[in-house]
Amino acid sequence: METIFVKGGTGSSRILAGESLENLKSYIPPSGVFIITDSNVNRIYGKSFPGHPVFVTEPGESSKATETVLSACRWLLDKGAGRDSFILGIGGGIVCDIAGFTASVFMRGVRFGFVATTLLAQVDASVGGKNGVNLDGYKNIIGCFNQPDFVICDTEMLVSLPPEEIKNGLAEAVKHTLIDNRNMFKTIWDNAGEIKELKNTGVLNRLISHSVHVKAAIVNRDENEQGERRKLNLGHTWGHAIEKITGMPHGKAVSIGLVFAARLSEHKGLLKPRDRERLTELLVRLELPTASSTDPMQVLTALLKDKKREADHIHFVMIKSIGRVVVEAIPVRWLQDYVKQHKKDIPAF
Ligand SMILES: NC(=O)c1ccc[n+]([C@@H]2O[C@H](COP(=O)([O-])OP(=O)(O)OC[C@H]3O[C@@H](n4cnc5c(N)ncnc54)[C@H](O)[C@@H]3O)[C@@H](O)[C@H]2O)c1
Ligand SMILES: [Zn+2]
Repeated sequence: METIFVKGGTGSSRILAGESLENLKSYIPPSGVFIITDSNVNRIYGKSFPGHPVFVTEPGESSKATETVLSACRWLLDKGAGRDSFILGIGGGIVCDIAGFTASVFMRGVRFGFVATTLLAQVDASVGGKNGVNLDGYKNIIGCFNQPDFVICDTEMLVSLPPEEIKNGLAEAVKHTLIDNRNMFKTIWDNAGEIKELKNTGVLNRLISHSVHVKAAIVNRDENEQGERRKLNLGHTWGHAIEKITGMPHGKAVSIGLVFAARLSEHKGLLKPRDRERLTELLVRLELPTASSTDPMQVLTALLKDKKREADHIHFVMIKSIGRVVVEAIPVRWLQDYVKQHKKDIPAF
């Protein structure tokens, strides 16, 4: 087990990579604990939860809404929760967002912690102190920065995850190796088969720790996304647009976004062609997509709509080498010309 600290404006958080659900009791108060989870997680792991009241949401993005937060607050009031209560979110990124935001606003804020049960939540969503819900189809519009007391990342709980959910998390883990490598890129390369089938707990724990270290280091320097935290958007500018158009799962769209960022970086002379090829091959090894059949001009239109507040420049995260990225303001005109001229080269477009 490894403990990694995240320091935020509202306090610090301990991320416990490789800790077990069995030891949860030693991190929470003996009483006044209220659990928030979803029905899938409750069905599989509910028997192992500590004996505190449980609020169960429906799985899925539509639950990440103010209505759920209000229902949870009413439930908390009904159960006699107070300012000294503790909220425990047990679930994936959606449950963590709902639980973290509910805890942040209930009675002006109560303490909270997470057991992150998806790979995506362990390598990304539960770390960093962002808590938010969606509004009218717009993601994470209502939310806050607030650090949980702790996050337990138990790899044993990943065995029940559908393989597609593992892939979602792996795309974010690869993203973290591009931001700060520390030899993790090669470890994933060498162990891709075992990683995607969750066969090697040791390597999996190293991968989760690495991701948490990378995200924690960036958040420690820039919690509120003024500068360096933007690096975490690597692959997401193009990826989000693909996700919006195709409805493709987030991780897969990010994988395509990473390849696009690599191509753009190579075109600008920042990244060696060999490194771009290695990245693409790693994603293929993990069975993640590296291309989409969507028209790139349509993706660009969606991207520009998404980023309309950034005016005539878009902050794009470029890859300099495996382990080094840089945020560049790219003129919209330039990006339009690039996509127009290279749409045939952008793989399988
Ligand atoms: N707050 C942040 O900084 C941040 C960062 C990245 C992503 N997110 C958010 O995270 C959300 C996605 O999170 P996610 O990918 O974990 O999705 P999720 O929470 O929907 O979980 C995916 C599915 O797996 C099920 N599940 C969860 N744990 C399981 C387990 N151990 N075994 C079997 N099934 C299990 C869930 O019920 C769900 O059906 C998005 O809403 C995204 O916006 C937030
Ligand atoms: Zn993401």
